[in-house]
Amino acid sequence: MKPLRDTWRSRLGIIMAVAGSALGLGNFLRFPAKAVTNGGGAFMIPYLVSLFLLGIPLMWIEWTLGRYGGGFGHGTAPGIFHSIRKKNRFLKYFGVIGIFGPLVIFIYYSYIESWTLAYSFFSMTKKISGLTDTVSLKTFLSGFQGLETNQYFDTIGYAYFFFLLTFALNIGVIYYGIRGGIERLCKIAMPLLFLFAIILCIRVLTLGTPNPAFPDWNVNNGLGFMWNPDFTALKSAKVWLEAAGQIFFTLSVGIGVILTYASYLSKGDDVTLSGLTASSLNEMAEVILGGSIVIPAAFMFFGPVEIQNIAQSGIFNLGFVTIPSVLNRLPLSEILGFFWFGLLFLAGITSSVSLAQPAISFLEDEFDITRKKAVTIFGIVSFILCQPVIFFLKNGVVDELDFWGGTFFLVIFATIETILFVWVFGMENAWKEIHHGADLEIPKFYKFIIKFVTPGFLIVILLMWFVQEWWPIIIMKNVAPANRIFVLGTRAGLFLLFATLAILVKLAWKRKQL
Ligand code: PFF
Repeated sequence: MKPLRDTWRSRLGIIMAVAGSALGLGNFLRFPAKAVTNGGGAFMIPYLVSLFLLGIPLMWIEWTLGRYGGGFGHGTAPGIFHSIRKKNRFLKYFGVIGIFGPLVIFIYYSYIESWTLAYSFFSMTKKISGLTDTVSLKTFLSGFQGLETNQYFDTIGYAYFFFLLTFALNIGVIYYGIRGGIERLCKIAMPLLFLFAIILCIRVLTLGTPNPAFPDWNVNNGLGFMWNPDFTALKSAKVWLEAAGQIFFTLSVGIGVILTYASYLSKGDDVTLSGLTASSLNEMAEVILGGSIVIPAAFMFFGPVEIQNIAQSGIFNLGFVTIPSVLNRLPLSEILGFFWFGLLFLAGITSSVSLAQPAISFLEDEFDITRKKAVTIFGIVSFILCQPVIFFLKNGVVDELDFWGGTFFLVIFATIETILFVWVFGMENAWKEIHHGADLEIPKFYKFIIKFVTPGFLIVILLMWFVQEWWPIIIMKNVAPANRIFVLGTRAGLFLLFATLAILVKLAWKRKQL
């Protein structure tokens, strides 16, 4: 007998879970770094265009397709795509990406998440609170990550310990299932996360002029540095690509995660208003809170010249070096540090559990095994896959995984699911399905947007990508020669993983025919 599928306990529960998935490291680190290096306030133009033409339509598509597939007992893209047109034997293979992508992101995301747990601990125990200069904090970070041995760390053991702890917490949550684990976690973690973010935001905005020697390094100019628009940036195709990529990543759409969450809805549950609510929570946190903490704070302490280098120095540097250096100069730095890294950890874990769920649902739904068994298999496999990320961090493995899982396949998968929804399922059916049990009627012009503009925009993005970035990526132009072997190894591993998942899909369907 097939075990009964889990369900969400309440509407608030799934909204919190989807918002939890969406709100992540992307909101507080990736967004400010992207905005400030791609035109400041002007970045908001391509960003909002992408939100309305890609992000929100995809959110509705995924909620609707997920709920539809769940009705047939499928919680992942292979089964959901297959339910759209059962006669077509190939559609399910496109769905492999919907398990592969989240798994790939999970592998590196959970390791980075574990640093935030470690750093909240280091803040509370005052292990980093004495460090105010960025050189020491950089050394601290490299030592912690095991990139070098130094006065702070002579082993990667601490990082490994916190990884084990984070990994165990993730497995613990998914072990208790959708309503018992994920929903319960998100209902507690989300309000707490907002609280931490609001406290930090207020702290930054009330800093005034923290350095009297430089009266211009003040809040106003900090916000100005973040938001003053540079409209010339809009001429660059890269800025538009970055904005669209940020929308996908931050909303967790285009990769299969929301499909899986929505598959645990019941047929009559609303998707339009709930999907929009979850997206709005994410956007509020990203633009208002994410946009007011990191960059303005860094500006006020480092000034207009140094901030340029900081903004370019990548999100790890921003989160684990620049911000602690700022917070450690303020009173109650241990508590502020705890809030900052605690915020990142809560944002991280509510996202990583959503990344783990598609693989679990796939095993449960398509192989009819119990959740316990599915979580055990997932735990063993993903634990092994995390190891290269930990030990080959300096060799570019994370960047490579982020490119394929967090960027490339996202756009491919988004394009596939949109085309399937509007052109194979059919726009009239799609519109009816979206509005089944809906509490919000979507304005009619969105029908046109979802049918033509969203897929058209996605195809343009894909083409631009191919033209601009494909070849340099294939030949690893920007990879240091010594790291090429690691990047190639990562690619080979990803290929094997993809092939294995495709074979599992084939086996699952074969089994069902017997
Ligand atoms: N949305 C998350 C963030 O902003 O950090 C990251 C993420 C989670 C991406 C889940 C994709 C996903 F499926």
